[in-house]
Amino acid sequence: MTNLNKYPTKDPVLVTCGLPYASGEMHIGHLRTYVPADVFVRLLKKMGVDVTFVCGSDTHGTPVVITAEKEGLTPKEIYSKYHQHYLETFPKLNIRFDNYGNTDDPENIERSIQLVETLQKNGHIYPKELESPYCSQCGRSLPDRYVRGECPYCHVDARGDECDQGCGRYLEPGEVLNPRCAVCGSPTRPVTRTHYYFKLSNFTKFLEDFLQRMGGTKNARNSALSWVREGLRDWCITRDLDWGIKFPLDKELTLYVWVDAPIHYMSSTEQWAKAIGQPDAWEKFWKPGNGRLVHYIGQDIVHHHCIFWPAMLKGSDYNLPYAVVASGMVKIEGHNFSRSRGYVVWIKEDYLDKGLDPDYLRYYVVSGSSHTKDLDFAWDVFRDKVNNELVNTFGNFIYRALHFTNKNFGEVPKGEFDPKLRKEVERTIRGITDAVNEYELKKVSDEILKLARIGNEYFQAAKPWELVKSDKDKAAEILYNAVALVKALAVLIEPIMPSVAESIWGQLGYEAAEIHSVPIEEALNSPEVGSKLGTPKPVIAKIDDDQFARIKETIANRIKAAEAAERGETLEEPEVTVTFDEFKRMDIRAGHILECTRVPKTKKLLLLKVDLGTEIREIVTGLADLYKPEDLTGKTALFLVNLEPKKIAGIESKGMILAVEKAGEPGAWVPVTVEGVPPGSKAA
Ligand code: 2FM
Ligand code: ZN
Repeated sequence: MTNLNKYPTKDPVLVTCGLPYASGEMHIGHLRTYVPADVFVRLLKKMGVDVTFVCGSDTHGTPVVITAEKEGLTPKEIYSKYHQHYLETFPKLNIRFDNYGNTDDPENIERSIQLVETLQKNGHIYPKELESPYCSQCGRSLPDRYVRGECPYCHVDARGDECDQGCGRYLEPGEVLNPRCAVCGSPTRPVTRTHYYFKLSNFTKFLEDFLQRMGGTKNARNSALSWVREGLRDWCITRDLDWGIKFPLDKELTLYVWVDAPIHYMSSTEQWAKAIGQPDAWEKFWKPGNGRLVHYIGQDIVHHHCIFWPAMLKGSDYNLPYAVVASGMVKIEGHNFSRSRGYVVWIKEDYLDKGLDPDYLRYYVVSGSSHTKDLDFAWDVFRDKVNNELVNTFGNFIYRALHFTNKNFGEVPKGEFDPKLRKEVERTIRGITDAVNEYELKKVSDEILKLARIGNEYFQAAKPWELVKSDKDKAAEILYNAVALVKALAVLIEPIMPSVAESIWGQLGYEAAEIHSVPIEEALNSPEVGSKLGTPKPVIAKIDDDQFARIKETIANRIKAAEAAERGETLEEPEVTVTFDEFKRMDIRAGHILECTRVPKTKKLLLLKVDLGTEIREIVTGLADLYKPEDLTGKTALFLVNLEPKKIAGIESKGMILAVEKAGEPGAWVPVTVEGVPPGSKAA
């Protein structure tokens, strides 16, 4: 649907991204939404649009509670840890939100309560008895992810709140057939309790009209319309769960996470407004008016964003979404994304910590597939894309043009922008504008690569390296145009590869960081004759073969280990050698455990006060499920004392107790004790 009047626009635009659950680290699946959203925001800025970009961590619901139980921490400790991880990781990927909060922030709690109370006042909420599963073995109610059973629609094994392996439908509490406890596997028994429902069925007509007008991608609109036409049932918005926002009309119940999560789009905007010193600025988006709400999401959460969310907004008198942009999912090397089977790319561990450039991954995500199709991430394709498209086509043209010009002229030589080339830049800008209007950003990278190819062909055909000897004026003319194309490429690539663009901008002799605020039309303004150029250097580096081989080996080992685990085996650790120097860097000492206490509100953690001869240190260890505090108090054990300090459950732990795992008994750890040795004695 191309409509060139949608963007650029004078109306303020708010772009949001689906909130990541603060219960695990960022992986490539997340980037399928966040990278295109960030690119879209940067493109709108270049087009002169007043755009604000917000997101935050999703801290409530069963995903956080289940992880907390597994890690022996409280839900708050879990979300704080992962919220911090997201806060730190997004900027490293050049994803820059104007505000990144979390759903447990006071603004979100207040706004959620206000919205629910308005829905109640407007007659959209009512109580009803609900029969939902209870596990006698675990002694608790089983909301959402705590229960599995058969999908009543496609009969595939499904999670309590979503048919996650079959038809993908949203499921209401009590809906899965033959429910069993997801933790212990026992069959469940039904318990009846009053819950609260949102009268979604009353919004059928509204949604049918709204969805036909709603912008964004067709996959979102069409699937939502077909669900509306199948018939909508009222939506249970409370849960029997301790963790979350207390339901204002019955404090023994908790608000369903899918109510307060999208409300964070609003409260994150409020936080942004406060931070810029204009506390009312959020209203231009959320009060009915001409503000545009554009939601970037994964296609697995279309139901929540195209059915529940617009109905909630309508029922509480807020503005409605302008567009919902739903991305396809991510596959890894042709396999369905799966953490447990090893088909995953962890952004920190597998990518950033390996020193790989974030801009290359941004480029892959944008150019790898059409936005609504699945994106296959394969390491070989990644390397080929970087080495061919980015190094050989894009980077090579830029480096040759700048290097050759600098060497022969030391500045922008005399020339005029060839109208034919200028037209190519105009055509590229038109293509990019169309792509933005279609929410199809692959077209942006395709257009830019095409322009780089034109640059390469122009340079190659004109042979400036010969002209510079035979006709220096002509050579100047050619190089002037080559530099003009480099300038255009820097402006146009900035939304996809912000750091690469900075580097080109600096080499063109401009203030590097200014590239982020340069408008798109600047691509048409050829550089000033005589202006000084910076020092040229390649802007994209080939992927190093050795490094690449190591990455692939790590990933292959992970998949093998996961397959073995599925067969119930453990793989032998691959033999690795450490140098003597590496070994010498480890400071292992005997420490006398003066005190040992349980870390409150955790299941696994013990806090040790350890005498190391010269000092007494606090060290946290995860042995509480195996040892009582009195088992360890008074013992002398070996500790690695120069391990980097780490905050665990809010306590800074400075070191690690050494323990051995009993052969054939995974998880059976025995601390390495060394009685009769003075504290501080060094092991070697
Ligand atoms: O599916 C998810 O990962 C959710 N945490 C997304 C929430 S998006 C929104 F509505 F807040
Ligand atoms: Zn199903």
